[in-house]
Amino acid sequence: MTFDGQAILVVGGAGFVGSNLCHKLMESNVGSIKVVDNLLSAEPENLPDDDKVELFQGSIADDVILSRIGINFDYVFHLATYHGNQSSIHDPIKDHEHNNITTLKLCEHLKGANKLKKLVYSSAGCTVAKKTYDDAKATDEEADVSLYHDSPYQISKIVGEFYGNYYWMKHGLPFVKARFQNVYGPREILGAGEWRGTPATIWRNVTPTFIWKSLLEEALPLENEGRASRDFIYVDDIVAGLMACALKGKDGEVYNLASGVETSIKTLAETINNLTENPTPIEYKNPRPWDRSGKRFGSTEKAEQELGFKAVVTLEDGLRKTIQWTQENQELIVRNMEKHVALLSEASFD
Ligand SMILES: NC(=O)c1ccc[n+]([C@@H]2O[C@H](COP(=O)([O-])OP(=O)(O)OC[C@H]3O[C@@H](n4cnc5c(N)ncnc54)[C@H](O)[C@@H]3O)[C@@H](O)[C@H]2O)c1
Repeated sequence: MTFDGQAILVVGGAGFVGSNLCHKLMESNVGSIKVVDNLLSAEPENLPDDDKVELFQGSIADDVILSRIGINFDYVFHLATYHGNQSSIHDPIKDHEHNNITTLKLCEHLKGANKLKKLVYSSAGCTVAKKTYDDAKATDEEADVSLYHDSPYQISKIVGEFYGNYYWMKHGLPFVKARFQNVYGPREILGAGEWRGTPATIWRNVTPTFIWKSLLEEALPLENEGRASRDFIYVDDIVAGLMACALKGKDGEVYNLASGVETSIKTLAETINNLTENPTPIEYKNPRPWDRSGKRFGSTEKAEQELGFKAVVTLEDGLRKTIQWTQENQELIVRNMEKHVALLSEASFD
């Protein structure tokens, strides 16, 4: 099975992961790609400039958008989210609107889509990882789901899995869940999209933030001595994993998309400082009050065995490519960060 000639829908396709997926799909000679994105945390120039790619600007929860796109798809990738933990704490209702009802409406819309071979949903490993600062064990797909989450974002991501499971059981919707670890790489534009109420709108995830500060020779801020750890996975690997979920995933199943490598935030900071030759020492800060996430990384076993998926890009190689992209796209990034500067003074620091 391939994507040759296939009709594809990418929800949230102008975002960081979604746009990288669209570019990769274009190499597979797809028939068409419809993208639904309200540009809440994305910039349209991320998308491939090609007649096969059509952007429907609006929310996937909007009935007008749903009737315009129809149901005639071979594969659907649902990557829309209200980005991310801190924005969702600041505005839980907006999180519900763009990270929760969205998944329900998409499932309801597609439940009778006979042609559909797979609906791949981007879930998050943080929703099941054990919250610990003791030595972490690789989180596998069978890990228990806690009823106590640190942010509306985490609740929404796991509720998306619940809806998908329900629509698969009740309506045979070919739903597959891809649980991401921490993705980094090109096309994650700092400040992309609209103001979402906190400085996290600008600074997004840890890796692009550290790279940007490091290139400016600023001190990298390390909370809690950088003791927390994550599983960093390069975006090309995530895209390969998403495609494997679509072509080889079993309906109703969940797969980790992980590198399987645990890296402390301190090591991440030191590696980025070395690669960018940043002479400024690290700045140690207090832990974020809401964050209990501690140490974690994902198990790669099931995805390797059942999808033949294995992340191949090492952290150093991936960081080098991301640093290079950041250097080449400085103007784009500055333009996006500057959009929000006037609003920063109003922001509450969660
Ligand atoms: N990046 C990571 O490290 C990571 C980790 C775990 C899970 N994920 C999941 O992967 C997916 C992609 O993440 P990303 O890093 O590319 O984030 P992103 O913010 O770049 O992409 C999300 C996209 O969804 C769009 N969007 C928001 N509300 C929408 C709506 N109502 N209708 C249509 N589009 C909407 C945004 O404009 C954006 O383009 C998300 O579902 C996220 O929860 C990401």
